[in-house]
Amino acid sequence: MTIGSSPTEPLDLAVIGARTVGAVLARAWAGAGHRVTIGVRHPDAPEVAALAAELGAACTATTPAAAIAGATVVICAIPGSAMAGFVAEHAPALGGRIVIDATNDLSEGAHDPSAIGDLARLAPTALAYRAFNSVGWENLTNPMFGAVRADLFFAGPDGAGRGTVARLIADAGPRPVYVGAGDDAHRAVDALATLWFCLAFGQGWGRRLAFRALSAADG
Ligand SMILES: NC(=O)c1ccc[n+]([C@@H]2O[C@H](COP(=O)([O-])OP(=O)(O)OC[C@H]3O[C@@H](n4cnc5c(N)ncnc54)[C@H](OP(=O)(O)O)[C@@H]3O)[C@@H](O)[C@H]2O)c1
Repeated sequence: MTIGSSPTEPLDLAVIGARTVGAVLARAWAGAGHRVTIGVRHPDAPEVAALAAELGAACTATTPAAAIAGATVVICAIPGSAMAGFVAEHAPALGGRIVIDATNDLSEGAHDPSAIGDLARLAPTALAYRAFNSVGWENLTNPMFGAVRADLFFAGPDGAGRGTVARLIADAGPRPVYVGAGDDAHRAVDALATLWFCLAFGQGWGRRLAFRALSAADG
């Protein structure tokens, strides 16, 4: 398992969860040439088999444990409320791998939408990143708004895994924007998800909504 991968070599990716976000990312990454293993509780379920068949040789479906075992990068796209259990069950296997938490725990009483805290506690050697959680899946499938490419903000350690996560965001479609490694950076990424919900649903903008950072480089 090589964490600091070469920028062109295909990556071995475990996509945990295959409904909406998992399927969108599996399609994008298989299309970009990566080897995608979908990890789900029921790998023979018709919708999972259909997705694996659609993606052909670039994709297989198996259990979460088997998917993680063969992966350099693990992407979590399951309900946020299931993440504490998932991390506890797979903590030893997640150690040493890049783990991207795309989940949001929106259940009543949840005080943290992300599982970054669970990962830090139970799998401290995992390189844990927060990404793909801040906008609806439609904006990953199509990140273009006219001529403007939407940004996707991510947080996590500045080191071996950062470039790989940025590459995976770019391969999915949006422009990757690194926010930082500390608590503030993680809170900022999660706040974007809150902003997305407020605008998309609270203010009626709808789900076709994403973000773009502007800087001096934009003129
Ligand atoms: N939908 C969006 O636009 C969007 C955007 C950004 C982030 N997110 C976040 O991304 C995550 C995935 O969202 P989603 O809309 O794609 O689908 P979802 O309904 O939240 O998750 C479905 C997937 O998770 C699996 N799953 C459910 N419970 C599980 C458990 N206890 N352990 C392991 N796997 C389990 C399901 O497999 P089974 O068939 O086994 O149940 C299915 O493959 C969520 O946390 C969501 O908040 C969603």
